[in-house]
Amino acid sequence: MSNIDLESKVRPAIKKLKAYHVDAIDCEVQLHANESPYPPPPELLHSLGIQLGDLELNRYPDPACLALRETIAKRIGLAANQIVVGNGSDELIQILLQIFCESGDCVAFPDPTFAMYSIIAQSMGVEPLAVPLDENWDFTADFFLKNIAPKNPKILFFSYPNNPTGNCFSADAIQEIVENFPGIIVLDEAYQDFSRKTFVAEMARHNNLVVLRSLSKIGLAGLRVGYGAAHPYIVENINKVRLPYNSNSVSQIISEKLLANFSMIETQIEAITKERDRLMTALAEIPEVTVFPSDSNFILFRVKEADALFKTLTDRGVLIRNLGSHPRLTGCLRVTVGTREENDRFLSQMKLALADPANA
Ligand SMILES: Cc1ncc(COP(=O)(O)O)c(C=O)c1O
Repeated sequence: MSNIDLESKVRPAIKKLKAYHVDAIDCEVQLHANESPYPPPPELLHSLGIQLGDLELNRYPDPACLALRETIAKRIGLAANQIVVGNGSDELIQILLQIFCESGDCVAFPDPTFAMYSIIAQSMGVEPLAVPLDENWDFTADFFLKNIAPKNPKILFFSYPNNPTGNCFSADAIQEIVENFPGIIVLDEAYQDFSRKTFVAEMARHNNLVVLRSLSKIGLAGLRVGYGAAHPYIVENINKVRLPYNSNSVSQIISEKLLANFSMIETQIEAITKERDRLMTALAEIPEVTVFPSDSNFILFRVKEADALFKTLTDRGVLIRNLGSHPRLTGCLRVTVGTREENDRFLSQMKLALADPANA
């Protein structure tokens, strides 16, 4: 039997961290995780004719993800040697930190933003530098560059559009930073399918740009497929630390077929974007609610009694995300765009809850 002091074994940087938290509350309407409400169309899966036997599950997957990388490269107009596939784009964030940062280095990002940049950095002893966003959840290049200058960060992360605020930052500000920053710039375009805005074209002029994309927001969250587009030299170095079989056969085969037959997914994306605009308008009409503009598949809004409203909605079967623990997001909730029925249920429960003095 062993009963050693496990606490003394864990690195201090890890002990300080809190695990990324996802509410595992069993609600009928799940609008908390920025997923698509639509699974891949069954007829599409069926028409792809994928049989379990084709998957050859007794064999290791293709470690190079070649077919998937070629399909992705074709879709976004790059070469396959500029593409790397991750087990979700999360994994690529981790690998980028591994290849560009030593313990004690710094990485910077606007704040509030996607929590994983900071969590992964801290886990590696890398200092996260959070540059505050202005009241429009934006920044100027001057302000950002002035704030980061004393720390000389190795990597800048821009969630574009930004999770959780929903907006794309000013493209001019990003462009000016791209023109002037001498380190690695990661444009995390996890929600690009909804914003239709991208910096991929800038990769031809700037070898320090890395663009990350995810299939998690367009119906494939369960497959865990994200990808990075970068200069072949960066891809080559990512491949040195990427685990050889980081992307499994099922994910590679299904996502490759879906990307090669994108029009049905495109229809779902259009439906989500339309619903987002409808939901924004409907939320803006509720006097107690302040809505922030969104280029994504989710909407950030502020109310007076956010905790009470969050609880009431949860009790009534509608799960959204409570962001109030961040000091800049007091009173803020984030709702993912669902199906029309889910959004209607969310809206009607919101109105009911806000009409109740307990939530006023
Ligand atoms: C901005 C941003 N980047 C990356 C991710 C991670 O996506 P994936 O599921 O591909 O790991 C998310 C997930 O919420 C996100 O919001």
